[in-house]
Amino acid sequence: MKIYIPSESLFTKDMNCEIEGGFLEFVKFGIIGCGAAAEFHSAGIEGAENPNVKFTGCFDVNKEVLETFSKSKRIPRYNSMEELLESDIDAALILVPHYLHATITKAVAKAGKHVLIEKPMAMTLEQCDEMIADTKKAGVKLMIAENHRFLPAHGVIKDAVKRGLLGDVFLGRTYEGAFCDASEFLDPDIWHFTYDKGGGGALFDQGPHKMAMLNWLLDSEVVSAQCWLGKALPSPPTKGEDSAMVFLRYKNGAMIDVVVSSTTVHPLTNSTELHGTKGSVFEDHSWELPVKIYTNLPDTEHSYEYHSPQVEHSPFPGYYTIAARVEDTYFADCIINDKEPEFTPQQAKEAVADIYLAYYAAKKGETATMDELRQYLKKHDSLSIMKGMDKVVQKNFGSMRW
Ligand SMILES: NC(=O)c1ccc[n+]([C@@H]2O[C@H](COP(=O)([O-])OP(=O)(O)OC[C@H]3O[C@@H](n4cnc5c(N)ncnc54)[C@H](O)[C@@H]3O)[C@@H](O)[C@H]2O)c1
Repeated sequence: MKIYIPSESLFTKDMNCEIEGGFLEFVKFGIIGCGAAAEFHSAGIEGAENPNVKFTGCFDVNKEVLETFSKSKRIPRYNSMEELLESDIDAALILVPHYLHATITKAVAKAGKHVLIEKPMAMTLEQCDEMIADTKKAGVKLMIAENHRFLPAHGVIKDAVKRGLLGDVFLGRTYEGAFCDASEFLDPDIWHFTYDKGGGGALFDQGPHKMAMLNWLLDSEVVSAQCWLGKALPSPPTKGEDSAMVFLRYKNGAMIDVVVSSTTVHPLTNSTELHGTKGSVFEDHSWELPVKIYTNLPDTEHSYEYHSPQVEHSPFPGYYTIAARVEDTYFADCIINDKEPEFTPQQAKEAVADIYLAYYAAKKGETATMDELRQYLKKHDSLSIMKGMDKVVQKNFGSMRW
């Protein structure tokens, strides 16, 4: 990956590279799946200065999508995934529907390429284990592109927690509201939010962001959960909830609520509050400066009044491309310097396990503990939890006027 780039070479022009000559280190990625996520990942790298990531190939089963993406992004396209994997790429960026995450990871690992794959890690906990085993066996790196672990705004919160500005966190809430076109729920042929291809509704789709972020910020683990699932749109039974509310209790005692929805009518945004024995943090991605910190510890920039640190941020869609750039270039750096990613596949699997715990609790209709889930999983597979889930979802659409 360390190659000499002569100035004015055709290669540098093709790659849109501004370096005039000298050594450049980068990782060649092939994109598998050229839909919505491919747009923000490629936009992120387009916006990077001298990126250590180059997209040198792409493939999508949908020929029209592939051609449009390849032309607009000037990334060479391949006729099959096999052809792409036979090319000289070092890694694949996998951006496909959830039910394909494990099988495509297996094929990529078998071809000896590193794997960066979008969240959620997989549709089942057993598939998460397979992905860990397959990449380990092939000796390639695996990271889940969990943008909430890489957002600079969340780095600021993590830093405040680490500095002790909040003291011991005992309370919090986090929200993601995403406006999706109603057809994503109403059209049975769109894979998003289906049980069989997506794994579940808004909670399965958006929830892993929240769990991965909270587990990291609190440096703790979920011990129990309660959950409500609702539909505000009259989607078919093959589609999961469009909104969810989860109450979590962490091992360190913190009580946190997680609210996600894919039908709220505002540009996509996220917000989080954490409250501790010494201070609080308020975050909202629709703000230009997304984080406010307050502490009663003396002698800090946040003492006795709200202070918003300067951080690279932009309301949606900006924060998506920022996070994609940070996570993609971080993974490339791990490959170049042979480091294990600090966001481990095991942590990504724990985020999926937290989601399964929430669904398990919704089905039970009362609080469920992680210990209980572990006992259940000794006798059943994780997918069995989702059986009959449509009956659990509250159908609220009868009185809704959209
Ligand atoms: N981080 C985020 O906030 C975020 C946002 C959107 C999507 N995502 C994730 O990105 C992934 C993709 O979601 P999306 O919204 O881009 O979906 P999408 O439907 O827009 O795109 C998926 C693409 O994969 C292609 N595809 C299907 N099977 C394939 C195969 N076997 N080989 C190659 N291509 C195949 C489809 O034709 C489609 O173009 C999912 O894991 C999703 O959860 C993450």
